[in-house]
Amino acid sequence: MAQLIDGKQLSDQVLREVASEVELLKGEYGIVPTLAVVLVGDDPASQVYVRNKVKRAEEVGICSIAHHLDVQCTQDKLNKIIDELNNDPQVHGILVQLPLPSHLDEEEVIAAINPAKDVDGFHPLNVGALASGRASLVPCTPQGCMIMLRQVHPDLSGKNVVVVGRSNIVGKPMAALLLQENCTVTMAHSRTKNIESLCRNADIVVAAAGRAKLINADWIKPGATVIDVGINAIEVNGKRKLTGDVDFESVAPIAGAITPVPGGVGPMTIACLLSNTTLAAKRQLA
Ligand code: GUN
Repeated sequence: MAQLIDGKQLSDQVLREVASEVELLKGEYGIVPTLAVVLVGDDPASQVYVRNKVKRAEEVGICSIAHHLDVQCTQDKLNKIIDELNNDPQVHGILVQLPLPSHLDEEEVIAAINPAKDVDGFHPLNVGALASGRASLVPCTPQGCMIMLRQVHPDLSGKNVVVVGRSNIVGKPMAALLLQENCTVTMAHSRTKNIESLCRNADIVVAAAGRAKLINADWIKPGATVIDVGINAIEVNGKRKLTGDVDFESVAPIAGAITPVPGGVGPMTIACLLSNTTLAAKRQLA
């Protein structure tokens, strides 16, 4: 049976470090790291994510300001709010929860955020910095995955890694971080041929496709490490249940190490968001 990589326990460790950084910033410099979270519309999953982010922020002493905007909010109104947050010296981090309603231009909104406050690491300047190995604010989910991977592989150099999924939020930045650690990275996606055999050759599989139980035991080399980024709501016997992109029951007996869903990557994402917020606050001191 695979070693379980416990995201709850690891994220608590990261959060303790964040809490002591926050204490230091308050004590030494009199600043309270502050995160503004912008949510547009009533998507239930986004509401849960935002609630969790705000709750965890408060637990580590980070001040959070939630802006909940109506689903019909215009681009102009959203841009104006971003502008105000950019110019507010009390706000150190800005997060706009994605996806946005379809009438809003996500790229325009992300590009409007001050890169120094872009705690998601989605701004083109931060994306470019990561791609060229000068990472500044790194996207939270891939950052959390790297911390989890280092638990099992203190040295990632030379590992064959397949990243399943090519999103801007997870797949692409994940590949960049792995490459920086000298991994041999293959990006697989919905058009990839022989995806199953590609994965079966990998030392590490990172599943970020957004498809429930896509990956089963036939895809995994015995002893491989499996990081499951998926959070999919499925119905089991009429009850709503969260499941990953990996069929945990089938894969866990043959993998070397695996992350559970829930309790795996999810809590790490939030911990890294709060770590980015303190980092951004520190940098804005200068
Ligand atoms: N939606 C899903 N994941 C994320 C994330 O990491 N950041 C933001 N802003 N929205 C998301």
